Amino acid sequence: MALNYSKKTMKHFLHPKNIGEIKNPDATAEVGNMVCGDQLSFSIKVKDGKIKDIKFLSFGCASNIATASVMTEMVKGMSLEEAQKFDWNEIVRKLDGLPQQKVHCSVLAVEGLREVISSYNKNHPEIFAKTKAKKSKTKKDINPKVKK
Ligand code: FES
Repeated sequence: MALNYSKKTMKHFLHPKNIGEIKNPDATAEVGNMVCGDQLSFSIKVKDGKIKDIKFLSFGCASNIATASVMTEMVKGMSLEEAQKFDWNEIVRKLDGLPQQKVHCSVLAVEGLREVISSYNKNHPEIFAKTKAKKSKTKKDINPKVKK
């Protein structure tokens, strides 16, 4: 049975973006799906709280490659906070849909993204704390009912 992949998915599968490993990365992570056995590994470079570069290696299916490829393009330049909230539905939309049985590939890509960000935050607790402090300060500034 042939799966009905969109043109965009085929393009990212045949010519993936951001494939490889970053030299001297700020963080790395590996994730896998126990059911299908596919895996992804990610490496990132972070500057000023934003994803300056992100690369991936795939040990998986065509959709595994395509979803990781398009996701890395979409999250490059995002703040770590934004990227942590990135949703797999955005990948599916960007690829003009995925066959139902391949939607989990986009979920795995996002799991990898969250894992590599989490690994970065663990290695850089001082930056994470700064971001949290800034965020809570902003909340107080926006909401006058919150006592300072
Ligand atoms: Fe499992 Fe693609 S079939 S990630």
